[in-house]
Formats: sequence, structure tokens, C-alpha cells
Amino acid sequence: MTLANPPAASAIRLDDYRRPAWTVASIELDVDLGIDRTEITSRLHLRRDPAQSLPLRLDGENLELLSITLDGRALADADYRYADGVLEVAAVQDNSTLETRVRVRPAENTALEGLYLSGSRETGFLLTQCEAEGFRHITFFPDRPDVLSRYTVTLRAERARFPVLLAGGNPDGAGELPDGRHWARFVDPHPRPCYLFALVAGRLESIRRDYLTADGHNVLLVMWSEANVIDRCHYALDALERSMRWDERSYGRNYDLDVFHVVATHDFNMGAMENKGLNIFNAKYLLADPDSSTDEEYRAVEAVVAHEYFHNWTGNRVTCRDWFQLSLKEGLTVFREQQFSADMNSAPLKRIEDVSLLRRTQFPEDAGPLAHPVRPAEYREINNFYTATVYEKGSELVRMLAGRLGQDGFRRGMDLYFERHDGHAATLEDFLSALGDANQIDLKPYLAWYAQSGTPRLHAKGSYNAERREYSLTLAQLTRTTPGQPEKLPLPIPVKLALFDRHGHLLPLHLDGQALGSETVLVLDKAEQRFVFHNVPSSPVPSLLRGFSAPVVLECDYTPAELALLLAHDVDGFNRWEAGQQLAMLAFDSLQPTGDGSACKAWCDALAALFDNPSIDDALLADLLTPPGEIEFADRQSEVDPAQIHAQRQHLQQQLAQRLGVTALIARYHTLAAHAGQQLDAVSQAQRRLKRRVLDLLALLDAHQAHALAARQYASAHGMTDRLAALGVLVRDQAAQATAALADFRQRYADNPLALDKWFGEQAKLPGEPTLAVVMRLENEPAFTLKNPNRARALLGTFASANPSGFHRADGAGYRFFAERLAQLDAINPQIAARLATAFNGWQRLEPVRREAAHAALAALAAREDLSRNLNEIVANVLQ
Ligand code: PHE
Ligand code: ZN
Repeated sequence: MTLANPPAASAIRLDDYRRPAWTVASIELDVDLGIDRTEITSRLHLRRDPAQSLPLRLDGENLELLSITLDGRALADADYRYADGVLEVAAVQDNSTLETRVRVRPAENTALEGLYLSGSRETGFLLTQCEAEGFRHITFFPDRPDVLSRYTVTLRAERARFPVLLAGGNPDGAGELPDGRHWARFVDPHPRPCYLFALVAGRLESIRRDYLTADGHNVLLVMWSEANVIDRCHYALDALERSMRWDERSYGRNYDLDVFHVVATHDFNMGAMENKGLNIFNAKYLLADPDSSTDEEYRAVEAVVAHEYFHNWTGNRVTCRDWFQLSLKEGLTVFREQQFSADMNSAPLKRIEDVSLLRRTQFPEDAGPLAHPVRPAEYREINNFYTATVYEKGSELVRMLAGRLGQDGFRRGMDLYFERHDGHAATLEDFLSALGDANQIDLKPYLAWYAQSGTPRLHAKGSYNAERREYSLTLAQLTRTTPGQPEKLPLPIPVKLALFDRHGHLLPLHLDGQALGSETVLVLDKAEQRFVFHNVPSSPVPSLLRGFSAPVVLECDYTPAELALLLAHDVDGFNRWEAGQQLAMLAFDSLQPTGDGSACKAWCDALAALFDNPSIDDALLADLLTPPGEIEFADRQSEVDPAQIHAQRQHLQQQLAQRLGVTALIARYHTLAAHAGQQLDAVSQAQRRLKRRVLDLLALLDAHQAHALAARQYASAHGMTDRLAALGVLVRDQAAQATAALADFRQRYADNPLALDKWFGEQAKLPGEPTLAVVMRLENEPAFTLKNPNRARALLGTFASANPSGFHRADGAGYRFFAERLAQLDAINPQIAARLATAFNGWQRLEPVRREAAHAALAALAAREDLSRNLNEIVANVLQ
């Protein structure tokens, strides 16, 4: 028996990329499934790159090698070597066939990478996760995305225990075997990288639907889950059908196999996985029903189903040359999902949600020690690079390119991209060339965005010359240094803008003798540039960066009155909200001891006017009434005291609540509550969103009444959105009614892990010093386990990443507790431990007492010798 693990990894560099010396034209996999032991036989048909003369080296980790033959001959010990995660075989020829038989142990696999068991030994099922480098935990293979092969997969198992056998590709026969066993075979006609391999085996139920593609191909769509939740898969099946139609209409892309399987599991490290023909989903992003899912969760299910489906073309048919190009598939697919969701729901609300997410997750990442370019230059552990930067900033870069080309131009570019690279592994250069070539535009300057980390600051200053009727706008950019990148270059920044007069009317734009209508895009591609608008009748208020036309921080010295004007009049829904956010920032500052409160008054007055304006959508109003989050406020400070920020933000909201008044808030609450139902239409969702916001504000003003309303709402709620909103208010305020509501929730959802996650999460959000004790008590709940990623995230992740005032205790107890748990989690599931550890990002900017405590906890963690390379890399990087 040979078991071999890799040594601690050294850095892998983009510049070191070499074409594979050996590729695999086709692979036949025979899998004999068992919970304790699974045996995998693989036959690789090898091709040699004639230009290289390296020996055959295959990746393989934790594989027990049972036998190995080359072109039918058993190999002698001297002919191969398996050590340090690599199998090296001598004397392999072009066109040779290498057969290996290995054994793996699914039930012992707690890292959830490779082949593992979901659920219990008695009732659970087997499944695989291969992205990024999980295939090497299943068999020997050149585990890199630029090796594309044809797959034939045969599964064998005991029929009673594993009645359902699935793998990616088209079904190609199935039948009985002796001793109560059976088999099923799958063939995928499309060459694909090994990270898209998947199999599933166990007792699963399904719902199915026939689908006819636009190009006339019949496809069977099947959703699989454990029996008790199969009736919660209908929404996802509908969302899948909508996604498929949308991709046909918007990008002319059709599905390309006879079947499309989607499987839900409660044990999954990420959101979902786009395996060819067999998507596997974290149940959180597939199951939905009104009683246990919130409106936000419904939207998330729709978005993730679409995201994984869209990968079939952006990721699978055209894949990545190497993992440095990860954003080629992820940024592009996030962008496509954002377009889809905007079409299915409200475009401005979707934009607000996405930009908020970017600011909450990506901006802090880009501003601290974990900052990295959308295309990193090097990495140690690729699993640590599935980041907000690669995904969310990556999507913003595609959005800029799409904006530059316009809708038709972008479509032309995408068509050319698919035409050129279908069936191949591509790079970001390939992507930009295709988009540019189809439009005769040189997009190379945008490559700098992929290589440079850090969020650019865009400084804007306008001045009006009444005599010459000229408005001149000076734009300047500056990106602060980031680790490893002391020098920053100017980037091309598209600034979409409009000008308003002081009555809130749009002004026609004249620039360089051209009439441009009321909106235009300026591209700033130097450190500083001046643009002069002519025929401007009066001093304007600029609406800049409309729709968030570039992922930058805008610095513009607006007066509160100017922001209030945009908040009242901007027709760009996103910028209207944005003006409110900027004004809220000024309002926050004006409440400091040195401030005069005038900006706060302007903010409250403007919102009070909108509160009574019947033409504003309820959901947008809810968002307008929400100031930036604590993390965004912290991002603007050089010495962060999370407890103080929490208190000051509460104070700010209290001012708003006071301005609106108890009577108006209660009246609005009752109006909205009168419509209570569980319908999913946009109007009903918007009403629930506003109702929750109104209740939150009321709680700051008249806790007694708010808690009574919340308790009643909890008891009579028709769906999870209202129920959880009510529970949230009670728990956060530690209201008298919280205990009973929590007990009720606990019991009501005893058999529903996804709902129970929310029960843990809501309690982990309790602000301030008391949270830690609550979290420590919840750990002792029988339902708590570090082994389930969703559960660990719900309690520990919420505490450390979504509750700044709870985690950042001045005495450092939160840090020590969390570091301890990270070490424990690391022994079970390194990927999850590493991801949660990013909660320490930003510790350098804490005020001195907390900074010292956080540093001590991190240093103690880093000093441990048993850390995985996943956690080790994050801790080491965060510490520097
Ligand atoms: N590729 C998946 C997605 O974005 C994410 C993922 C990465 C899942 C790694 C599992 C492992 O859709
Ligand atoms: Zn993806």
C-alpha cells in the first residue's frame, strides 16, 4: 500500500505557466462504490506533446494504489514512483494506455473534497467535489484545467443502498449485476477538464421536466434531493428553466446534453458547483418554500441556479487555461447572473444589492493584507482564491467592458469568444481580444485592471463659470499601495454622468462641440483629466458614476444640499440610493462631537419627504431608509472602534426614526401589515422589506410597542420573511418576548437544518459584549457541529464576520475564542477554516487595544505547527 501526501506547497506563479507535457485524450473510469471503501479503476489514453520530453507525472493525493499497468503490462516497482502527491511513470509512449486501480475512504473524508459521504452512514449518499484540485483525490490524473478529455464513467454499487447512480454526461446503459448489485454508464461527448467531473450515488428522490431547447434539442431536467425535501425543489426547477430560456435569448447559447441533473446536499463547502451535466448544490441554494425561506433566499436560489447553469458555456465549454484565469469563468458568470437577475426582478434593486455586497466584502479585502489582483500573479493554495475580488470585482470588470461595447457590441464579442474558444482552455487575454476584435476596439488597456490590486479612488471636482456658461469637471485617480505592489498605474475608468440643475432637472450635455443628450460616459485614463461642458445655463449638480460604472471609491465634496437634491430627483435608481448613502455618511460625521448635525438634518428631511412620496417603490424606500453598514463606516476610518461605530450608527438611525415619528411609523407598519401574505410577487416582497425596515426603526424609538408588534408578527407570520424579521428584532433587542419566540422557532424547525441555521445565525448577530457568551452556549446545543459547513458558518461565521461589535470585544476574548475554533475546524475541514479566518482581515486598523489583542490571538494561531496549508496561508497573509 502506498499513501502519499504533498509537501507544504511553495508559491505557484502565473509567469511559470508551461503547456502540459502530457494530455489525456479520453478516460474510462470504473467506480465500485462503498461508504467505507470505494475502488476506482481508470484507463487514461495519453498523448505526449512532441515538443517536450518530460516523464509522465500525474497528481494523486491520499490514494491507496492497488495496481498499475501500462499498455496491458503490470509495472514493476522500478517503473514508477508515487511520492509527495505525484505518480511518476517511466517509459510511457505517445498513445499509451495507463491503467490504475486505487482505493479511497469516503466516510473518513471530512474535508468534503474528492469523494465523500453526505449525511449519515445509514441514510446518507456519496458524492464528489473536484474544483479546484479534488480530482486528484479520486484518481491519478494531470489535475489542471488545460487538460481536456472525453469521459466514460461506469458506476457499480449495491442496489438497495445506492438505488440512484449518477455521473455527468449522457446515460449509456445500465443493468443488474450478481449479488444485488447494479451498474450505470455515462458518456460525455464534450471534452472537459477534470475539475468538472462528478458522481452521486444513494437514495434520492427526483422531480423532472422536459425542456425543448431553442435549437430543437430535447433535454430532461432533473432535480434530486433526499426524500423529505423533494417538494422544496420546484422553485429551483422553474428557475433553471428561466435561466435556460434567458441564455438562449440573450446570448444564443443552448444546452448541449440530453439530461441535466441537479443534486442538493447539506454538506458542501461552497454555494454550488457547475459539474458538467450534474450540478451539485449546497441545499441552501436549491431548496425553497415559503415556510422556511425568506424572500432574499428565494432570490439567491434563482441567482445560484442561473449562475451554475450559465457556467455551461462560460466555464465548461470554454474553460480556463490555469487557475490564475479563474475570473475568466467566475467574473463573467457572475456578470451574466447579475444581468439575468436584473431582468427577472428589479434592475436598480439588484444593482444596489450587488454594489453593497462589493463594498462589504471586496473593498475591505482590497484594502488590507489579503489584497490581490483579479488575476493573481501567484498563490500557494488555490482554494483560498475563490474570493470576492475574483468573483465580484471580476464581474465589475466585465460590466465595464460590456458598457464600453454597448449591448450589441458585447454580444458580438461574446459570439466571437465562443466561436474561437469552444472546447478549449482560454485566458483573460483571449477574452479581451475576442471582445475587442469583434468591435475593432483595442481593449488591452483594461488588462491593467486584472493585474492591479486595490480600489482606485476617483476624485471629482467641478467648477462653474457663469460668464462663459461652462462647467469644468476635473477627475483624478489614485490607488493606494497594496502588498507587493508599491507602484500603481492609472486605469481606464468609465465615468457615466449626468448634470442636474438646482431644481432637479436634467441638463443637456455639450462637450467638445458635440451634443450628447442628458447622459454620457467619460473615460478617465490618466492620473488627472479635465472635461469642460459648454452651454450650461446654471451651476449644475453632477450625478457621477451612474449605475456604479466602475468599481472605485468616489470622492467628491458634495454639500448635503446637493446630495439631498440627487436623492430627491435622480432618475437613475442606483444613483438616487447612492446619493442617500453618501448623505448618510455626512450625517454620521455631523453627529460627531465636532459636527453641527446639519447633514443629519438634511438626510432625515430628505428621507421624510420620500417616506410620504407614493411614487417610490416600497423596496427602494426600504433601502433608502437604510444607512451604510458598520463595515462600510469602518472602511473610512483609520482607527476603528467597532463598538463605537455600532453605537453611532444606531444613534444616526434613531435620529431618522425620530424625524419620521412614532405615529407615522406605526401607521405605515399597519398599512403594510394589512397586505400580509406569502406571495412572492415583487409588490408583496417589497412590502415585507419595507415593513421590516419600519419595524427596525420603530424599535429604536419605542421598543415596547415595536416588541409587541414583532411578537404578534412572529405568531401570525405567513412565511419565513416575516417570521425571521420579527424574531430578529426581538433577539437583537433582547426583548422579553425573545425567549418564547426562540423556543418556538427551535421546535418548529427541529427537522429543518437550513431553518435551524438561521436560528443560530440570528442569535450570533446580537450586538456587543454579550454575544460571545451566547455563542459559547449555542455551541453546546446538540444540533451544533463543526463538521457541517453551513452550521459552522451560521454560528461562527456570522459571529466573526457579520457582527463587528460582538466579535471585536475590547478584552480580546472574541479573538481568542475564534482562533481556538479555527484550529479545531482546520483539523476537520481546512477550506472552511481558511475562509472563516478571513474575518481577522482589517485587524491592523483597529484601535490600539483591540489591535494588540487581535494580533496576539493571530500570532498564537500562526505559531501552531499543525495547521493546514489553507489556514496557514490565510493566517500568515493576514498577519503581515
Ligand atoms: N465554481 C463554483 C461556482 O462559482 C464554486 C466552487 C468552487 C464550488 C470550488 C466548489 C469548489 O459556481
Ligand atoms: Zn461560478
